Amino acid sequence: MKKKFVLITGIAGFIGFSLARKLIINKVPIIGIDSFNTYYDTKIKYKRISELKKINKDLIILKDNLQNYKKLKNKLDSYKITKLYHLAAQAGVRHSIKKPKDYVDNNLIAFSNILELSRNKRIKHLILSSSSSVYGNKNNSPLSEKSNADFPIQFYGATKRSNEIMAYSYSYLYKIPTSVCRLFTVYGPWGRPDMALYIFVKNIISGKKIDLFNKGNHQRSFTYIDDVVDGLILVGNKAPKKKKFEIYNIGSGKQIYLKKYLMAIEKELGKKARINLTKLQKGDVKSSIANISKIKKIGFRSETSLDFGIKQFVLWYKNYHKI
Ligand SMILES: NC(=O)c1ccc[n+]([C@@H]2O[C@H](COP(=O)([O-])OP(=O)(O)OC[C@H]3O[C@@H](n4cnc5c(N)ncnc54)[C@H](O)[C@@H]3O)[C@@H](O)[C@H]2O)c1
Repeated sequence: MKKKFVLITGIAGFIGFSLARKLIINKVPIIGIDSFNTYYDTKIKYKRISELKKINKDLIILKDNLQNYKKLKNKLDSYKITKLYHLAAQAGVRHSIKKPKDYVDNNLIAFSNILELSRNKRIKHLILSSSSSVYGNKNNSPLSEKSNADFPIQFYGATKRSNEIMAYSYSYLYKIPTSVCRLFTVYGPWGRPDMALYIFVKNIISGKKIDLFNKGNHQRSFTYIDDVVDGLILVGNKAPKKKKFEIYNIGSGKQIYLKKYLMAIEKELGKKARINLTKLQKGDVKSSIANISKIKKIGFRSETSLDFGIKQFVLWYKNYHKI
């Protein structure tokens, strides 16, 4: 019998890598794909992959762009894939204001190929990473999967919502069990260099000023990476049966002001930030708080405290940059 694999797209990215590491430790056979794009420094992407290869030297990594369907299909033809975690995407809210086309190519075209692949390879479960950005600008009450998600205020959110809708019709027509995971701001070791935590820590250490957008009055459900990975695995192990399609929020469920997040970082580093208070940025939502009652029903617990999570990041950052 052919060996069965779990396919992870975006394996060189922050979340794809963290999920892959946990699955490899759990002895799950995986194949990873990534285009290693240059949205941020690729050095960290290659380092993540070498971390994975330390645990499994035979790990299969394909360096390919999902926009090329023919190549994708040919390369995967000989493998039996049962589950597919789609984590590759052009992420970043602010970048989507400057370069919306990147989101058409990497989120819409690339994802249409993932759907075709899922159909042709008769994938047993497609797990798609979406984002809290689909909810757009709401008041500061917690967002549930039933909240309206049809008015995202940036193109990133629009492509993520489009992915969900595209996935629904494929799941309905071709009976592909599909789970959408709407992730809320993820942080932790090996995190993205374009995200607040990385930039804050870097600038506090070097003494450079930090732009604190909306004067730090944003609220987010900052969610620790290990909790997100646990959530993705829980969802992945529960393929929807009758309905074939489910949406889950994955977030901490807590409500934290950006300025409190910064204070926790300052405390951990033992150094104050030099702050430049700025106004709300175009496309930034003021508040994004997760209602996680649905995923809790399948066993999700998001128990990592902010202080612990930030401590882990700072330890990793100093070790990674040899500080
Ligand atoms: N990090 C967060 O806080 C967060 C929050 C909500 C949703 N998400 C979603 O989670 C997923 C993973 O995010 P991340 O933070 O790990 O981002 P990331 O940028 O670190 O990882 C994405 C990876 O996908 C790869 N990629 C992009 N386009 C590709 C293509 N066309 N073909 C092949 N590979 C391609 C990139 O090279 C990158 O390594 C994304 O779908 C993102 O939208 C992330």
